[in-house]
Amino acid sequence: MMKNKVYNIIALVYLILLSACEVSTTTGVMNDDIDRKVEELVSQMTLDEKIGQMCQVNGGHGHDESIKNGAIGSILNDVDPINVNRLQKIALEESRLGIPLIIGRDVIHGFKTVFPIPLGQAATWNPELVRIGAHIAAAEARSTGVNWTFAPMIDISRDARWGRIAESLGEDPYLASQLGAAMVKGFQGDDLSSDKSIAACAKHFAGYGAAEGGRDYNTTLIPPRELRDIYLPPFKAAVDAGVRTFMAGFNDIDGVPATGNKFLFRQVLRQEWQFNGFVVSDWASPWEMINHGFAANEKEAAKRAINAGVNMEMATTTYRDNITELLEEGLVKEETINQAVREIIRVKFELGLFDNPYVDAANQNQFAKQEYLDAAKQSALQSMVLLKNENNTLPILSSNKKVALIGPMANEMYEQMGTWVFDGDSTLTITPLKAMKDALGDDKVLFAKGMEITRTQHTKGFKQALKLAKKADVIVFCGGEEAILSGEAHSRANIDLPGVQNQLIKELKKTGKPLVLVVMAGRPLTIGEESAMADAVIYAWHPGTMGGEALADILLGKANPSGKLPVTFPKEVGQIPMHYNHKNSGRPANPNSWTQMYDIPVKAPQTSLGNESHYIDAGFTPLYPFGYGLSYTSFEYSDLKLNKSVYQDSETVIVSFTLKNTGEIEGEEVAQLYVRDLVGNVSRPVRELKGFKRVALEAGEVQNISFELPIAELAFHNEDMQKVVEAGEFQLWVGGDSNATLSQMFTLEK
Ligand code: NOJ
Repeated sequence: MMKNKVYNIIALVYLILLSACEVSTTTGVMNDDIDRKVEELVSQMTLDEKIGQMCQVNGGHGHDESIKNGAIGSILNDVDPINVNRLQKIALEESRLGIPLIIGRDVIHGFKTVFPIPLGQAATWNPELVRIGAHIAAAEARSTGVNWTFAPMIDISRDARWGRIAESLGEDPYLASQLGAAMVKGFQGDDLSSDKSIAACAKHFAGYGAAEGGRDYNTTLIPPRELRDIYLPPFKAAVDAGVRTFMAGFNDIDGVPATGNKFLFRQVLRQEWQFNGFVVSDWASPWEMINHGFAANEKEAAKRAINAGVNMEMATTTYRDNITELLEEGLVKEETINQAVREIIRVKFELGLFDNPYVDAANQNQFAKQEYLDAAKQSALQSMVLLKNENNTLPILSSNKKVALIGPMANEMYEQMGTWVFDGDSTLTITPLKAMKDALGDDKVLFAKGMEITRTQHTKGFKQALKLAKKADVIVFCGGEEAILSGEAHSRANIDLPGVQNQLIKELKKTGKPLVLVVMAGRPLTIGEESAMADAVIYAWHPGTMGGEALADILLGKANPSGKLPVTFPKEVGQIPMHYNHKNSGRPANPNSWTQMYDIPVKAPQTSLGNESHYIDAGFTPLYPFGYGLSYTSFEYSDLKLNKSVYQDSETVIVSFTLKNTGEIEGEEVAQLYVRDLVGNVSRPVRELKGFKRVALEAGEVQNISFELPIAELAFHNEDMQKVVEAGEFQLWVGGDSNATLSQMFTLEK
């Protein structure tokens, strides 16, 4: 394990140096020179050319003529560098003003080299690793001519039914802000014009993750305070990290579709946050405002989107077909169009496209370099969460042991890459089966799928699986859900393990052999029953290209698991929405007084159980809490101290504590800091994450750790929607998950 750690550190340092070398010191941020060039260009443009810049079309053939006429400003989904170069040449040399194209693509968690799904990357709680992952994805993508990704997706996701939770960074505004900002920096680098950088896009502004019932594209109802305190912070963090584009959501919020939402794009994004990049619609989202019943026809849809501040229309043509008329009728102002075009062109200058929009022959298709694969493995390693490990079932230490590797996800090169892998190269994938055989030898790994796919509904494969299981010393069941069961438009109302997996696990359990459950999935699944049957459980998400190797290292003890949940795992789907930063309610549940439904006496008096906020069939606690994750070693938190007990507004709380590795082997722990504002002008969450740190500790090692918590970080929106920090008492905790118990109080005086 030690050797592995040293190797990991070397690999990481190498990657950090590599990415630092790849960025030049000239930043691509706004400067007077660019502003002057933008102004000059826009002043020469005809109305049709301006409209062209506001139109994005899907790749493919047949666009040459329109590009020549300046009628297209952007293409999405073209990843052939030869074709992209050809189209850029037409734009540069044959169109009247020579304006290059911005080429967009969903580069979500890797390009050819696939990293864990974003929710998995969030489980690393490691912003630097997340930054490196985005940087590698950018480098691979730009080598095809793509210069803009539609990522990061930073929609707060509290609902595991929603398929797009896979693409999110979880339920917490602080964690999603830190990791989202890291992704922005990774994609964009320090110099947007570098041939290793692409423009990032913060999406989906805003509130898309609150889709009612977890059903994709559904309406959202987000109270203004919750919007400001929970849903918007990651987007503000993306702006602060320098993100150059935003995408409007498909959803409506309280009746106003995001794509036509002046409050979001004019007031918040541009006025309050001073964002000066550009906004792209989502696919056909201006047009879809007709379906929303927010626009009577395409013309009205275009008017509402443009006036709300959406610069570019993706895929549909409501802008192209209606802007001229809208201007003639005075429904859209000329200055609105000019400003929309300026913002697009500015980003094209920043990307260096006017100087060189081409990919040199020597730099084309630079994929899957060894250091990229190493980073993908590192990310997969840190993303896997050990949820249970009874009797030290893991790691499987003796090399003489026979392992039965069973299950529909154990050898699926495509499925383990997860959702959003338009460009992912499944031939690069290392599956758990391959990695386990490489590590143990063919004869030590007995493999049977048991089920063809995760949704298989018959038991024909059980016999063979059980036969092998009986011959083995330990069973590793590798199941979950295939890639297609999560992601856009793939919401589920039931989030149990699909197909007959539960039945197969029951049969495997009957063998009496130690049973390890590995779940590869795009969302938290309700695995309470299966977890109870298993001796050990690893949540591996969809771990990407190197997932098998990472998993084998963890199973065999070459690496120590260190992932932590970025989202609460409910016991039952009916508990959703369930998140750690909930409100207390007037009648909070009492952990000691909950009576399970089947234990309630017959004809029990109405109030005999107490009137508390819980479910009589599921209680009030989750299956696994936010921030949770075990290790092969154990950690102890002690000596929590604050530098003072009473603070003023401008001060910083210095939180220090001791973290000890109390086990026999080295490991990494993600230490977490939570705060509660005990009394507020409005009710406040029971806990809020305010800091975290990944700490590596040798066996027995003790470290003094500290967090800095500026008092300003305690701000929230009060009854009058003013952002305030209020005087009063605060409780603070440090620990390894959101149930941390080591606590101190402090006071804020005004
Ligand atoms: C629709 C999705 O909502 C969005 O996230 C994506 O970037 C676009 N399609 C483009 O593929």
